[in-house]
Amino acid sequence: MNLIRTVVLLLLALPAMAQRPIDFSPFEWPENGSIVIPVAEGETLTGLAAELDERTGGAIAMAVAEARFTGEKAQTLTLFGVKPYARVDLIGVGSDAVDRVGAEDFGGLAAGLNDGTSGTTVQILWSGVAREDDATAARVAFGYRLGDYRFDRYQEERLDPTTRGSVRVLSDDADAASQFAGDLEHVAAGVYLARDLCSEPGNIIYPQSFVDRVRAQFDGLKNVKIRVLDEKDLKRLGMGAHLGVGSGSSRPPRLLVIEYFAGGDRPTLALAGKGITFDSGGVSLKGNDGMWMMKGDMTGAAVVSSTVLAAARRGAPVNVVALAALAENMPSGTAIRPGDVLTSMSGKTIEINSTDAEGRLVLSDAVHYAHVEYSPAVLIDVATLTGSVGRAVGPDYAGLFSQQDDLAVQLLEAGAATGEEMWRLPLNDSYFEQLESDVADVKNGGKGGAGASVGAAFIGSFVGEGQVWAHLDIAGVDYTEEPKPTTPKGFTGWGVRLLDEYLRRHYE
Ligand code: BES
Ligand code: ZN
Ligand code: ZN
Repeated sequence: MNLIRTVVLLLLALPAMAQRPIDFSPFEWPENGSIVIPVAEGETLTGLAAELDERTGGAIAMAVAEARFTGEKAQTLTLFGVKPYARVDLIGVGSDAVDRVGAEDFGGLAAGLNDGTSGTTVQILWSGVAREDDATAARVAFGYRLGDYRFDRYQEERLDPTTRGSVRVLSDDADAASQFAGDLEHVAAGVYLARDLCSEPGNIIYPQSFVDRVRAQFDGLKNVKIRVLDEKDLKRLGMGAHLGVGSGSSRPPRLLVIEYFAGGDRPTLALAGKGITFDSGGVSLKGNDGMWMMKGDMTGAAVVSSTVLAAARRGAPVNVVALAALAENMPSGTAIRPGDVLTSMSGKTIEINSTDAEGRLVLSDAVHYAHVEYSPAVLIDVATLTGSVGRAVGPDYAGLFSQQDDLAVQLLEAGAATGEEMWRLPLNDSYFEQLESDVADVKNGGKGGAGASVGAAFIGSFVGEGQVWAHLDIAGVDYTEEPKPTTPKGFTGWGVRLLDEYLRRHYE
């Protein structure tokens, strides 16, 4: 029995292991093979590009002129057979000193260019351009790892990461290897887990299998305690809102609680995530266009679980707890209907206006539970809550809602540092007023256009008195059509980097 369990756990853990090896060495010019170099924007070639031009008898200057390559940020040019190199990737880094996100983007672009290469070592030269202190070689490697992500496990032509060749970053950053292997590699593992969970289809990832997948990742990590609340537990706790959402599915709901307490008497951060493993809309059924994307409606739960995974893997001295509110929203004879009244754990009753506004229902119980169980210093919920947020701020920002200015500013700053940015949207009393119901204490949808703010207000109605709280609506950023340097097309795992940074800044 134990052997079977071990084998199953190993299989579950597999997708996050076996990545391309990335190592580091002191800067020197490679003698041959494949190289990637940064090129600063300007009239003439400078830094490594100028040196390479000299080494190749003027071939680089000729190529960039012919290709109109200026070194503008994110511009790339690949040359083959420029002796003595089989392949040269030039990547523009712009004219300003490269910052942390710039270094990550450089690494991510290198990964994108070398996507199909196998067997060879990609040699990335990280020197010769102006850069800020935190634009390190480890950041380049981190960006490479993030940009190298792919979800191809169901495709015949899937790539075996172990045969894809290795990556070497050549720089004079002395502690690059330890900053990467001991730290940033773990954040990347968190992002990978989040992306995997979201990309998996709804027939594979449902509440219990989400729990199993995540639990396997925490195997052997210190200071971690995992609790799984099943339907009986949810009933005992009076979580009628969460149970209601799950009642239409043959796959029962779960509340996954991951405690990582390694911070002694430091304050606790609680993170609650919307974990709808598939959102059909329920009886208020969605149209079929794009409905497949609702397999990713558990991004919030994936992101909060993965943030705690990253913290536990890197052994951060923090106290953080993730709550993944898991359910599948399906129409059936046992599903909830518009007009139904549910009683939440807080005792507040909820009239169902639309069964498609289900995320706020599971979160109403999760945020209440987080408050009474942990009295956290700060509570943040993360959810693909509304289509409305995407219409308001587009794909470059998540919506941030908070009535505490300090917390909002801290999150905005962490977002700017990581490139996972938010735009703060209003959460005034008027949005709470829209939730008044004729038959219950509140209803789960309002009228009018400010859907993202109304959704935030609904969750806010269940946040305990005095609880410092923020809500992140990530429905516009959880998936990208347009590949970006560190987020290939597909589910992005948006929020792991942001929350990891926020933890480092304010809890370590
Ligand atoms: N999961 C959706 C929100 C969503 C939409 C996420 C698009 C990602 C992309 C959510 O459960 C939902 O259906 N929200 C409704 C709320 C409405 C019924 C009040 C919406 O946004 O239309
Ligand atoms: Zn919905
Ligand atoms: Zn949803």
